[in-house]
Amino acid sequence: MAAACPLTLSTLFCLVPILMCLVDPTLGYKPVILVHGLFDSSANFVHLVEYINNTHPGTNISVIDLFDHKASLQPLWKQVMGFSEAIYPIMQNAGSDGVHLLCYSQGGLICRGLLETIPDHNVDTFISLSSPLMGQYGDTDYLRYLFPTYMKANLYRFCYTQIGQTWSICNFWNDPHHHDMYINSSDFLAPLNSERPEPNTTDWKKNFLRLRKMVLIGGPNDGVITPWESSHFGFYDENETVVEMQEQQVYQEDTFGLRTLDKRGAITVYSVPDVMHTMWHSNETVYKQCIEKWLT
Ligand SMILES: *[C@@H]1O[C@H](CO)[C@@H](O)[C@H](O)[C@H]1NC(C)=O
Ligand SMILES: *[C@@H]1O[C@H](CO)[C@@H](O)[C@H](O)[C@H]1NC(C)=O
Ligand SMILES: *[C@@H]1O[C@H](CO)[C@@H](O)[C@H](O)[C@H]1NC(C)=O
Ligand SMILES: *[C@@H]1O[C@H](CO)[C@@H](O)[C@H](O)[C@H]1NC(C)=O
Ligand SMILES: *[C@@H]1O[C@H](CO)[C@@H](O)[C@H](O)[C@H]1NC(C)=O
Ligand SMILES: *[C@@H]1O[C@H](CO)[C@@H](O)[C@H](O)[C@H]1NC(C)=O
Repeated sequence: MAAACPLTLSTLFCLVPILMCLVDPTLGYKPVILVHGLFDSSANFVHLVEYINNTHPGTNISVIDLFDHKASLQPLWKQVMGFSEAIYPIMQNAGSDGVHLLCYSQGGLICRGLLETIPDHNVDTFISLSSPLMGQYGDTDYLRYLFPTYMKANLYRFCYTQIGQTWSICNFWNDPHHHDMYINSSDFLAPLNSERPEPNTTDWKKNFLRLRKMVLIGGPNDGVITPWESSHFGFYDENETVVEMQEQQVYQEDTFGLRTLDKRGAITVYSVPDVMHTMWHSNETVYKQCIEKWLT
């Protein structure tokens, strides 16, 4: 064969990628780690796993099966520690190639916790799928089920207590009319945002900025995340007017690295209409338009 087809240096170079593909057909697709949301479990990702498998065959997908259903109400730092233990070995296996982290709803906050607290993480792209990244302030079905006697305007009385902070949803309850109380009492979101000084703020920011790319997906018909712009790091001011990411204090003061990441051109934002909260991971159009191209 070699005699019939003399190899020049350039054809050799052309062949290398083809040969590498023959050796390992999955070469090039980084492992993908999926983290679920409130009252969910790994089962909610069956469609998403199928979509990824169809477009990127051979991708090693890890759906982390922890804190399922009611256990998802446990305090978020506890969940961050649990997910960290499960995910760290996957990161180590991936080595310098790194991994992609795709996190849905409350899971997006858990993933922010991972990104800030794992000093040698190798997350290439963090995809946040309709997550309350700047917190939640709204009456949703979840709230009515969990706290039937509280309206959103009164929930701070419960959430901003020590007992309240043992519930995940209170960990990211962000009442714009009681901002000082939020700053003083939030055990999770306020320190995560470095809105309250923490001894580890500098390290957390450095860890977060190991990220190469952040993709924020959300939309106006979500129906659960309130305001829905929280999925894009926007949030209410004291008058319940939505202030976008770039105007947020945490962005302008770059408290945890958001501004640095944005200035690097590392943030992509998708606003997708007509997707209900429970459909984000099961909508193939969303996958095709906002997720597929990042999972390389
Ligand atoms: C991925 O697709 C292959 C066929 O292309 C199939 O054999 C395999 O079971 C699929 N895996 C998952 C997790 O869906
Ligand atoms: C997929 O990733 C897991 C976790 O890193 C690893 O244990 C497993 O061996 C991998 N599977 C394949 C087929 O590479
Ligand atoms: C905070 O920093 C201290 C000292 O460096 C370290 O021991 C501790 O694990 C850190 N905590 C977190 C949650 O990162
Ligand atoms: C927040 O904490 C500071 C310092 O401990 C205190 O002076 C302030 O009154 C607290 N504010 C609220 C609303 O609890
Ligand atoms: C909220 O509304 C009040 C009354 O209209 C106004 O004085 C205040 O400046 C507004 N706050 C913000 C942050 O826009
Ligand atoms: C899927 O998402 C598209 C927007 O990209 C939307 O128009 C469509 O209604 C959604 N379908 C479902 C079943 O949610």
